[in-house]
Amino acid sequence: MEWSEKVVLITGASSGIGRGFAVEFARRGAAVGLLARRADALAEVVEEIEAAGGRAIALPADVTDADAVRFAACALRQKFGYIDLLIANAGVGGTTYAADLCEKEVAELIKVNVIGVVNSVTAVIPHMIERGTGQLVAISSLAAYRGLPKSAAYCASKAGVSALFESLRIDLMGTGVAVTIIHPGFIKTPLTAGRSHMPYLMELDGAVKKMVHAIEKRKKSYSFPWQLANIVRACMLLPIPLYDWIAARNSFRE
Ligand SMILES: NC(=O)c1ccc[n+]([C@@H]2O[C@H](COP(=O)([O-])OP(=O)(O)OC[C@H]3O[C@@H](n4cnc5c(N)ncnc54)[C@H](OP(=O)(O)O)[C@@H]3O)[C@@H](O)[C@H]2O)c1
Repeated sequence: MEWSEKVVLITGASSGIGRGFAVEFARRGAAVGLLARRADALAEVVEEIEAAGGRAIALPADVTDADAVRFAACALRQKFGYIDLLIANAGVGGTTYAADLCEKEVAELIKVNVIGVVNSVTAVIPHMIERGTGQLVAISSLAAYRGLPKSAAYCASKAGVSALFESLRIDLMGTGVAVTIIHPGFIKTPLTAGRSHMPYLMELDGAVKKMVHAIEKRKKSYSFPWQLANIVRACMLLPIPLYDWIAARNSFRE
């Protein structure tokens, strides 16, 4: 992959994983468009990238606003000519409990984590297909594989994103547009700050490097770290009563 020719749109680039991607792609020579709501935080990332000799523009927008995301993608294309890599990363976490499930809160989370991804894809996909090249990357989660305790909305949103991208991958066969679904375990970011019981917790830099490698290889799906990914896969084979018993006792979740 020739990074100096890449133009990347990264959503959720103002902190955590998105910010890590932005800095790493720019360091490799790519031009990066940084989308998130906080303009001041984006300006800081742009400054850091430019100070190191990289190319970046801030695209303040809310992923739940389809027009705003489309406008941001247009601005990036106007500046650098095209977009050939989308990292649909913007997302929020949240604890939910069955007894006091709030439909408004669930809808809000789904709107950011699923509809936000849809808005990001629709803003770039027609041009990628027209150019006959491109790559769509979704940052899902190991929480997509099975329902986890106190995480109904989050697990539903990530399962939704993974299924969405799997369908897109099949639809886009033969178009030149690759689709990569990434399922990370726990990574040290503001989203996980202050949370306890996070097995195989990863440092941000190491996790970003692993994900960039999977993107370079145009992997269809990448779940990591391998230890937690294997535990989650094994959980999928368990009979339901056994899974419920184990899950209720080990609240491993993002
Ligand atoms: N950290 C983990 O352990 C982990 C594990 C698996 C998956 N993930 C996934 O990785 C992604 C990034 O998480 P993170 O850990 O890096 O969290 P983070 O540090 O909290 O970053 C979340 C990013 O999403 C942006 N965002 C949130 N709502 C938005 C909206 N409505 N419109 C535009 N941008 C929005 C935030 O920017 P603004 O607030 O400026 O808008 C921020 O840049 C999420 O999808 C998360 O579910 C994280």
